[in-house]
Amino acid sequence: MISRLWLLFILQVPILALPTDTENVFADDLTSEYAKGIILAAKVAEMKGMMKPEAAPCDNFYEYACGNWNRQNPALLLGKAMTDSFQLLLDGFNRRLLRILRSQSLQSELEKKMQRFFLSCANVNRDDVLYKVALENVYREFGEMPAVAGDQWNSSAFNWWRTEAHIHQKYGKNLILAVDIMHDIKNTSLNRVYLNPPDRSKFSGSRLMDILEEARISKDLQDYLGVEAKEAKNIAKNLNSFDEKLFEGVSSNTLEDSVSLYTMAELEEKYISYLNFTEYFGLIFGEENIPDQLYVTDEEFVDNILVLMKNTPSATQANYILWHLLETYFVDANEKDLSKWCVDQTKKYFGQLTENLVYKRYRSSKAEAEVFSVWEEIRGIFREHLKGDKLDWITNDTRQVAIEKLDRMALHINSYDSEDFEKLFGKVEIDRYNYVANIQHLLSAKAIGSAEKLKLPGSSLDFSQTLSFTPAYNIQENIITIPVALLQPRYFWGDEYPEALKYAILGFLLAHEMVHGFDGEGRSYDASGNLAPWWDIKSRYEFEERRKCFQAQYHAYKYAGSELPETEDQSENIADNAGVKFAYIAYEKWLRNQTEERKQRETMKELELSSRQIFFLGYAQLWCDDVHSLFQSSVAKDDNHAPSKFRVIGSLSNFQEFSWVYNCSQEAPMDPEYKCAVY
Ligand SMILES: *[C@@H]1O[C@H](CO)[C@@H](O)[C@H](O)[C@H]1NC(C)=O
Ligand SMILES: *[C@@H]1O[C@H](CO)[C@@H](O)[C@H](O)[C@H]1NC(C)=O
Ligand SMILES: *[C@@H]1O[C@H](CO)[C@@H](O)[C@H](O)[C@H]1NC(C)=O
Ligand SMILES: *[C@@H]1O[C@H](CO)[C@@H](O)[C@H](O)[C@H]1NC(C)=O
Ligand SMILES: *[C@@H]1O[C@H](CO)[C@@H](O)[C@H](O)[C@H]1NC(C)=O
Ligand SMILES: *[C@@H]1O[C@H](CO)[C@@H](O)[C@H](O)[C@H]1NC(C)=O
Ligand SMILES: [Zn+2]
Repeated sequence: MISRLWLLFILQVPILALPTDTENVFADDLTSEYAKGIILAAKVAEMKGMMKPEAAPCDNFYEYACGNWNRQNPALLLGKAMTDSFQLLLDGFNRRLLRILRSQSLQSELEKKMQRFFLSCANVNRDDVLYKVALENVYREFGEMPAVAGDQWNSSAFNWWRTEAHIHQKYGKNLILAVDIMHDIKNTSLNRVYLNPPDRSKFSGSRLMDILEEARISKDLQDYLGVEAKEAKNIAKNLNSFDEKLFEGVSSNTLEDSVSLYTMAELEEKYISYLNFTEYFGLIFGEENIPDQLYVTDEEFVDNILVLMKNTPSATQANYILWHLLETYFVDANEKDLSKWCVDQTKKYFGQLTENLVYKRYRSSKAEAEVFSVWEEIRGIFREHLKGDKLDWITNDTRQVAIEKLDRMALHINSYDSEDFEKLFGKVEIDRYNYVANIQHLLSAKAIGSAEKLKLPGSSLDFSQTLSFTPAYNIQENIITIPVALLQPRYFWGDEYPEALKYAILGFLLAHEMVHGFDGEGRSYDASGNLAPWWDIKSRYEFEERRKCFQAQYHAYKYAGSELPETEDQSENIADNAGVKFAYIAYEKWLRNQTEERKQRETMKELELSSRQIFFLGYAQLWCDDVHSLFQSSVAKDDNHAPSKFRVIGSLSNFQEFSWVYNCSQEAPMDPEYKCAVY
């Protein structure tokens, strides 16, 4: 589940993406002809290794392109929920970061601070008495925990929403109700308070996942708090079933459909029999900073949750709140994986700074220039489409506004080059021997600024952790962001490889994100990112007709034994389908302008495919994955992206050029007569 405050369209959602041990065999500076030959041969071997050449490409192109992926990257054997090609990219980035974190030659005080944090994490010994005492102090700051105090626990000293408000004020943690500050959805130049359901990723539905989760909590209760085994089991069960009830009512509507503006007086009055919201926000922001107005993003959730809290024994409330506070400080890795786990924690708390450091160390202006140049090509193609007669189902007026939005769309590499890190971390104390206190200092430094944020110009939430692994479109800034990790050479594209791969992957990624500005949700936001629908009625109607085609097509696909959910939100499928088309057109355009000699280099020895066939193979192999069977139903249900297999099959079977390039017969499954398309 992704909180709806994330007005952010990411390419893919990571599912417990643990790092792999696959070592990168390439150094970054191999430039001789001989080395180039080897690099290309390695790429061919990699691509062939994923393929199942005996599968018929026109029957099931995913099987043909990725049929052997699971042999080399089996999720089950690697102990992972899933494996995919983005993890390889992320592993490369994390290795570079680890090298920096272990280096002896860090210069700035901020870099050393980040390094001390990493070391404090890597030094944690779960059995250490001092660590356990530190954990105890974490919850004691807000009261006793019934799980530990047992019969001695004094329920009349506890009030859930005041406790929650204190925790939020001091550490900015969102536990039962989330309070966020970000720009006004209708006017991005100012900030507003949003009352939301908390954003906690959780796999839903599967009984087995619940059992695993319960076992984990039960073990942690015993290990960290010394709760006796039987009692721990009961509490874990209790916490888990409460969690389920808590999230039951979260709606999946889009933000613009579910947001309501309240005055503080209205909010206080409506809910006064449950809690006093004026006092609640006063505790969080200080009485002098209580906002006059705020957004509630899911009223039904707030209604339900307050009733649920009223009907929940206070011991369960206290266990739940203090436990989820405490979880922040747990070290959930065994000794072998600890340093990798700590790299992730460092990214979590120093997100922008870690991106910035890796970017500065490994910067390649050539790779950056390539990204921007492909972006201009892709944008140019969409602009031509909007100007020509291909999209004449959209009225001239609406197309004119679309062109303006497209022209104002910006592309950013997430290097955080102009971030004021001194302001973010300058005053934070970091001790290399005290992991728990370090996190407390980092969280409270962030929380202190939050009341001030209300007076500042509109700003986004901090997405740095998510943005470090995936390209994204930020709808409220009308910006496409590219992670530093993607600039690493020779993962997805490279000088030695055919340009077909660059267009199939980079071209596709950029086009996919671009199309999010014009999909079901993007249609409602203008060029400045304000919620201000700009499509006229006729164009909307025509769009809906086309969107419904995708809805039916993808719903007919079966995954893990069930049909994919029939959802009105077809944004990801629209972006995939248009994305691969625009990328292909860009490649065609590039290809037509090349000499015969240059075109020769567009094929790969030992891969008997034409350059256009390589394009489609490269696109499909971006999506090779292996999902552990336990997680498959979650992937189909909880992710608004189709499972990888259908991202390939759905988009290519809608694209006529694919069938021509692979010479599919008219009866072939990959070449259905009726094809869905928006763009
Ligand atoms: C329980 O807490 C209440 C309120 O803080 C206090 O008045 C009362 O004395 C406490 N009872 C015990 C047994 O500590
Ligand atoms: C957005 O807010 C700013 C600052 O309050 C105001 O000047 C501007 O007119 C508002 N814009 C819109 C479109 O409401
Ligand atoms: C709610 O809290 C505020 C601030 O503490 C207080 O002024 C107000 O009277 C309270 N409202 C009710 C109905 O108790
Ligand atoms: C839309 O623009 C095209 C090209 O400028 C023009 O030929 C066409 O008549 C216009 N359509 C309408 C309905 O105005
Ligand atoms: C075609 O290639 C030439 C030479 O490489 C280049 O100058 C020109 O801009 C290219 N044209 C297009 C449409 O890409
Ligand atoms: C395409 O397929 C047809 C029959 O399905 C065959 O006759 C033809 O030779 C094929 N063309 C290529 C280029 O493979
Ligand atoms: Zn997307």
